[in-house]
Formats: sequence, C-alpha cells, structure tokens
Amino acid sequence: MDLPLAPPGPPMQATDTQRRVWLMATATAGGVGALATAVPFVASFAPSERARAAGGPVEVDIADIPPGGTKTLEWRGKPIWVVRRTPEMIAALQGHDDQLVDPGSSKPQQPAYAHNPGRALQQDVFVAVGICTHLGCSPNSAPKGSANPSLPADWPGGFFCPCHGSTFDMAGRVFKNKPAPTNLEVPPYRYASATRIVVGEDTAT
Ligand code: FES
Repeated sequence: MDLPLAPPGPPMQATDTQRRVWLMATATAGGVGALATAVPFVASFAPSERARAAGGPVEVDIADIPPGGTKTLEWRGKPIWVVRRTPEMIAALQGHDDQLVDPGSSKPQQPAYAHNPGRALQQDVFVAVGICTHLGCSPNSAPKGSANPSLPADWPGGFFCPCHGSTFDMAGRVFKNKPAPTNLEVPPYRYASATRIVVGEDTAT
C-alpha cells in the first residue's frame, strides 16, 4: 500500500495539525517498514526542537531506517525525506534518462553532490525536500509495481504528486511532460557519522 508522505498543501503554511500529520507519516516503498520508522522518527525529532525553531541544522539518526523505508523530519518548516534505497532501487535509476527533464541535475537548485544519477552523497541514502516543485503539494511514495493507473507500465518506482500528476523517480528526478519544472530539491546535508546526517549544513561547513 502506498502511504502519503505528507498531505497536499504548501508545508511552509501548514497548520500545527497538518504538520503533525506529515511528521508522523513515514513511508516505505515496500510498506513493511512504515511502522518500524514511525517511532524512531519521534525520537530523532525531539532533540532538534530548538534547532528547528531557529531554522538551524537538524541532526537525525538514520541507522533504523529499513531497506526501502523512509524517515521524515522537519527542517525550516519543510518535510525532509531520508530514503534507504535498496540495490534494486539504485539499479532502477538507470535506463530512463531520455524520459527525464534534468537527468544530470544540472539546474542549480541543489548542491553539487546532487549532480549524479542518485543525487546523493551515498547512493543508498536519498535525502530530499518532500515538496513538489510545481505548486508545493507533497508527493506520495510510488514504488515499482504500484497499482496506480496514472503510472506507466514500465514505471521504475519513485514518487507521484496527486495534485497534478507530476512523477519523479527514486532520485527525485522529474519526468518530462509533467507540470513540475524541476527535480525535487536536495537540501544541504552532511554525514556526522556513518549513521547520522545533519540537514541544513553542507559538506563544506
Ligand atoms: S503540485 Fe505537484 S503536480 Fe502540481
């Protein structure tokens, strides 16, 4: 079952109720990991309250994200997804460059380390702002094999925006002929350790 990563609507203007909904919504490409990631998310969020209020960096433990699972945190009022990509998900990033608007992430809305097919510092961990680059809805997880009639038969897995139908692959790269003009944004982030990342700080800081 596909799980919503966040409700439609501009997260920057989310009410407290809306924010609670997407904060608690963890998604997984396979579905099994959703519950496994829900509790760790709360724990990861709590120490960052002060930093979040100030718009500062947010550090999060990623060790408990299962393969195919996603942890959602908040940074500067935005939902940030941390996806543990499986080898199959990484392999599925190949072979559809000709269908993408910006396969090499050449547009300058993302850090330099997004300029690779996986758009990530480490290919098994994808970090993105969970906001559609069209009008700000939050896309849903749409794994390969999704029973979604709006997706093509050869869908490689990724994200589907229910508002106007934009589709993104598992690196957040937008498909052509969709309303969203650019790939999902990759926020600045760095690894504090092998199992912890800091969102809001670049590798250079
Ligand atoms: S807001 Fe996502 S397609 Fe329009």
